[in-house]
Amino acid sequence: MTKTISVFNNKGGVGKTSIIWNLAVSLADLDKNVLLLDFDPQCNLSIACLGAQEFSNLLQTSPAHPFGKTVKAFALPYIQQNRFGDIYTSSPKIPNKSGRLDIVPGDFWLNSFSDVLNVGTDVIGGSGLYRFILPELLTQEASRVNEVEYDYVLIDLPPSFNTLVRSSLYCSDYFLVPCTPDLFSSYCVGLIGEMLPLFIQDWEQGKQRYLQSNPNDPVILSKGMPKFGGWVFNNFDTRKRNGVKHMVAADAVHHASIKTAITNQLIPSLSNISTYSAIPSFVNTNYVAGIEDLNVMASDSIFQNTPIRYLSSHRPTAGLRGRGSWAANQIDLMSEMTQEYETLASYIDTNF
Ligand SMILES: Nc1ncnc2c1ncn2[C@@H]1O[C@H](COP(=O)(O)OP(=O)(O)OP(=O)(O)O)[C@@H](O)[C@H]1O
Ligand SMILES: [Mg+2]
Repeated sequence: MTKTISVFNNKGGVGKTSIIWNLAVSLADLDKNVLLLDFDPQCNLSIACLGAQEFSNLLQTSPAHPFGKTVKAFALPYIQQNRFGDIYTSSPKIPNKSGRLDIVPGDFWLNSFSDVLNVGTDVIGGSGLYRFILPELLTQEASRVNEVEYDYVLIDLPPSFNTLVRSSLYCSDYFLVPCTPDLFSSYCVGLIGEMLPLFIQDWEQGKQRYLQSNPNDPVILSKGMPKFGGWVFNNFDTRKRNGVKHMVAADAVHHASIKTAITNQLIPSLSNISTYSAIPSFVNTNYVAGIEDLNVMASDSIFQNTPIRYLSSHRPTAGLRGRGSWAANQIDLMSEMTQEYETLASYIDTNF
């Protein structure tokens, strides 16, 4: 059974892409087959996993590959000609993983794709629901062509509530919400609580219309039920007191207000969805994983296309911070954050 997970927050820069990249590697280390879908026109996940050069090669078009080798190669013929295009996946170069890790690369064209999707006619009208389940179709095709059953599909999304986000949520079994310690995170958590039930209402309307002519479509019947899988606290600072780490006071304040928004806004609002149970019993208001401020290691991890788990065995990029090797405290932090990602992966493995 493939489980599809959107990593989502309409606030930008909270670590969605970084979390997917590092989580994917931890899931693969648990022997899971993982497919990444880069559904963000910014394509940051593709660049992080594959490197800017390889990604730009995939964007190149030729007579044999008129739409390149990204998500566009499958999706554009699907949208314009109602036929499946070609699916291409790439594999990040990661050592020692036991499960398989593939990515359907993103494309700046996703901006145009997002404009083509129409909530009014496609979703609510019911006739175009299949245009909104592209992530599901990509998964099925990648699985067929690669001859692998994926255990987890992780979808990276733009920071918005646009049609790409809707489409991904409709196809997801769960969504995870990364938050950072700032004034806007708790506000955005509340907004997710307001928006998701509306998205589901639209889906249900469209589904009822669609089912009148296709009453037993198993795909449509199984979609439109994303559950809150928990939240990740990212990029907070700690200080040591008597040898024990504590979250700094300012970040603890933000942490508390995010928890309050989850308790008082997100969970009650999602609990009101009547068509399915959007709050699973295993979920609580504590964060599932806490990723501290990784400072230069965060950007170097992206720059070197190397997840945090493996970064300490690479030299830091000269020029970014000018050091010849990682300091002991940096290596410790990378190893502690690797454990946080392992915790997140096994939480998913146990509960989802
Ligand atoms: N734990 C962390 N410590 C330090 N820097 C971080 C951390 N997590 C993410 N960053 C940095 O913050 C920036 C935003 O992270 P990332 O791209 O993962 O966020 P995002 O939510 O995917 O952004 P967007 O909304 O634009 O897609 C990046 O430069 C990243 O390197
Ligand atoms: Mg991102």
